[in-house]
Amino acid sequence: MPEEQDVELEARLADQERFVPSESFVSQANVSDDSVYETFEEEWPECWEQAADLLDWNEEYDTVLDDSNPPFYEWFTGGELNASANCLDRHLDERGDEAAIEWVGEPTDEENRTYTYEELHREVNEFAAALKEMGVGEDDVVTMYMPMIPELPIAMLACARIGAPHSVVFAGFSADALATRMNSADSEYLVTCDGYYRRGDALEHKAKADEGLGGVEHEVSDVVVVDRLGDDYDHPMGENHRDYDDLVADHAGAEVEPVSRDAEDMLFLMYTSGTTGQPKGVKHTTGGYLAWTAWTSQAVLDIKPEDTYFCSADIGWITGHSYIVYGPLSLGTTTMMYEGTPDHPEQDRLWEIIEEYEADQLYTAPTAIRAFMKWGSEYPDKHDLSSLRLLGTVGEPINPRAWKWYYKHIGGEDCPIIDTWWQTETGGMMVTTLPGVKDMKPGSAGPPLPGVDVQVVDTDGEQVEPGRAGHLTVQKPWPGMLRTLYQNDERYVEEYWAEYSDTDSDDPDDWVYFPEDGAKIDEDGYITVLGRVDDVLNVSGHRLGTMEIESAIVGVEGVAEAAVVGGNHDVKGEAVYAYVITEDGYEEGDEMRDRIVEGVEDAIGPIARPEAVVFTPELPKTRSGKIMRRLLEDVANGEELGNTSTLRNPEIVSEIASKVGDD
Ligand code: WTA
Repeated sequence: MPEEQDVELEARLADQERFVPSESFVSQANVSDDSVYETFEEEWPECWEQAADLLDWNEEYDTVLDDSNPPFYEWFTGGELNASANCLDRHLDERGDEAAIEWVGEPTDEENRTYTYEELHREVNEFAAALKEMGVGEDDVVTMYMPMIPELPIAMLACARIGAPHSVVFAGFSADALATRMNSADSEYLVTCDGYYRRGDALEHKAKADEGLGGVEHEVSDVVVVDRLGDDYDHPMGENHRDYDDLVADHAGAEVEPVSRDAEDMLFLMYTSGTTGQPKGVKHTTGGYLAWTAWTSQAVLDIKPEDTYFCSADIGWITGHSYIVYGPLSLGTTTMMYEGTPDHPEQDRLWEIIEEYEADQLYTAPTAIRAFMKWGSEYPDKHDLSSLRLLGTVGEPINPRAWKWYYKHIGGEDCPIIDTWWQTETGGMMVTTLPGVKDMKPGSAGPPLPGVDVQVVDTDGEQVEPGRAGHLTVQKPWPGMLRTLYQNDERYVEEYWAEYSDTDSDDPDDWVYFPEDGAKIDEDGYITVLGRVDDVLNVSGHRLGTMEIESAIVGVEGVAEAAVVGGNHDVKGEAVYAYVITEDGYEEGDEMRDRIVEGVEDAIGPIARPEAVVFTPELPKTRSGKIMRRLLEDVANGEELGNTSTLRNPEIVSEIASKVGDD
């Protein structure tokens, strides 16, 4: 496209507030009737039978919602089902020879792998048999510390088959993070791998897993190791370590009857960052979670069995759980997995994959879109992306400029974009347009889904006027919600409900869920999410607790005190800024800075690496001794400094600001 034309189009897009989904999309959409909003409201909570109906139940549920003991809600009680049977067995007759997973490894000279439903079913059964032989029983938590290789969803589904909840730890997390999570869940089994490929290098992962195992306080019964790197890495094996391929071969042809699980039985645990230093073990159940991911995959991602659906997230995060594994597979579609980074070997890798596999949907994160924008439209332009029918984003707010770039350069102005707000805790999408029903407004996620009661409120819990900032709240329970924090009901109430609920009441109307996000709503009921209002950062769409990072930093020898805040970053969204006071006798400087960065990487992982480490003799504190984070954020963003009059030490702020300027 000639440049002037490009500029013109850009200007037109900038003026246009609303984007209307194309007729061709609407006419084929799974949901295209506006009345769904009204009917769901009228028929709540029975409306969610529609979600449950997408699943096969061994035992019909008798109650849709049991709200007798808020906020410990139960959904589809009395019902029984198995998640692995819903994702595999029931598709065999019609889709047995169709691809369930299309896996693309990072090295381009390696053969990609296709698992048909038949093949996936077989391997899940074999691995489930191996787990059983190892002694894994119903309700034993199995930890997985694996990158994007097919054995990860296989292991998850094998666990689901035998009723053993999984706890997947993102492979980019550190050994310490693995140990903390295994300890918290009392998990005696680990499935991991020798390593994986990242930007052309073979990364050794097993050593990190072994180090993590060293920090586990209880006895670990078995460690299963997938050999991903072959000859590229000769990994050591411990006494109770077993090779994945051997295990599967030993159980070739085995069939394991899927365990009938109660709807409320735990399907998995997922640890996520919160305000305190300890990650929270979010508990999801079999019936409600699966119904939620299936329904949203159908209604929002518009997935049909014959689609090839591509979500570029990592399965180590909730997006991958819900929208690479459980949602898509429960609908019997083809789900893609890509092992590597989008810029390897070139910055057009994703477009090449989409072209080759003729993907129908792409679901990715704003941070990725901002990187694609930076790399330039020549990369997508080289490829035929006309197979795409729908685009999605998740994980952080998307700015209108990135939205429009995505719409134009990836979607060819023909694909609706869904900007989906949700969280680890919500299990699946909560606020987004239904792509076949609603117009889109760049920068705004959209109205809450039908049957989802989201309101923006002020500190008294009253709805705010359109256009004013407030807190996002969910006023009614929903099937995909977390049920509690693992073995910590008290913290569950405290973290999510206490703020806006009457915690002494038994009346569900007195209970309000607070996700700790700020938001505003417009006249049409479209919600713009403004970001976290607690001490949680969103770095490249990944949730990181400032307390976790701070405690890693103060663990470094010579550090007296640290404060971590988020600063704006044009690709990552937010970046970690660490303000550090050293102990007497320790020198501020590069050596110290390196040790701090290393300390953070060891405690959490490279994703939490500070963008800047700023040494300071003091931190700005109020007279009561509270660190004024707002000011530190202003400093990080090079903004005009806010009011310093309540500080005990106002002069320190400009001193710190001058140091950041030098950095
Ligand atoms: C943020 C990821 C704006 C939000 C699925 C939330 C978003 C946190 C959006 C959850 C969005 C997620 N627009 N912000 N579309 N989606 N967020 O648990 O702050 O990793 O609370 O779940 O990401 O992150 P989590």
